[in-house]
Amino acid sequence: MAKILVKNNLAPAVYEFIIEAPMIAHKCQPGQFVMIRTDENSERIPLTIADFDREKGTITLIVQTVGNTTTHLCETFIVGDEILDVLGPLGMPSHMSKFGTVVCVGGGIGVAPVYPIARAYHKLGNKVISIIGARNKDLIIFKEKMEAVSDELIITTDDGSAGQKGFVTDSLKAMLEAGEKIDLVLAIGPVIMMKNVAETTRPYGTPTTASLNTIMVDGTGMCGGCRVRVGDENKFACVDGPEFDAHLVDFANLVQRQQMYKGQEMLEYSCGGH
Ligand code: FES
Repeated sequence: MAKILVKNNLAPAVYEFIIEAPMIAHKCQPGQFVMIRTDENSERIPLTIADFDREKGTITLIVQTVGNTTTHLCETFIVGDEILDVLGPLGMPSHMSKFGTVVCVGGGIGVAPVYPIARAYHKLGNKVISIIGARNKDLIIFKEKMEAVSDELIITTDDGSAGQKGFVTDSLKAMLEAGEKIDLVLAIGPVIMMKNVAETTRPYGTPTTASLNTIMVDGTGMCGGCRVRVGDENKFACVDGPEFDAHLVDFANLVQRQQMYKGQEMLEYSCGGH
């Protein structure tokens, strides 16, 4: 049981939950995730740890209402309620080192899992340039938090309502074209965004990591939902990742597979079960 201590509505359909989970807070590293089950009838869903406080024994989860369980959690759970199971930390921690200049790219709620990684890069003395993007200004999350751990923060919105008009990849490309020395790019967000980041950096040979937490289903290596081709190997995002060399990930196959379950998900969602 994990008690909800704080619940904030960060953006339309996006909620922040700070929950009591002292053992996980003590052990977790940037890049890891937890599996949660809200109650006995709920499916298990993976959620990346967006922040943790070892002293207070809390972890922060960012949840977007994209299906039954996430909608149930966001719409019915309030401060003081308890989440039945929180299992973790799971997944491999992010590879941490002093690389030099690191560009952290976050799209949509992908900015939340970028945050603890950017913070750790910053602590290690890397120059951190963050690019965070969303469709419009209302959907930008973690702006202040990212500002605090970045040497430079660039905001992009598709409609130009905040920051630069365009995509995160436009800003990244401009940096690369200007000859900025970049030692590593980290991207977390929609699969199509990570694919585009990989294609932007590929001609420059800039090392690029994508965190594939958005494709996970049961998070235990059992369902096969997060299988991904990386180079000439099959990997599972939940046990081998979630971070992989973005230039080796077969994104085309991932995009195609993501479409496969859309019909079933819509059906389940419209039936109202969780
Ligand atoms: Fe099911 Fe990885 S999420 S195998």
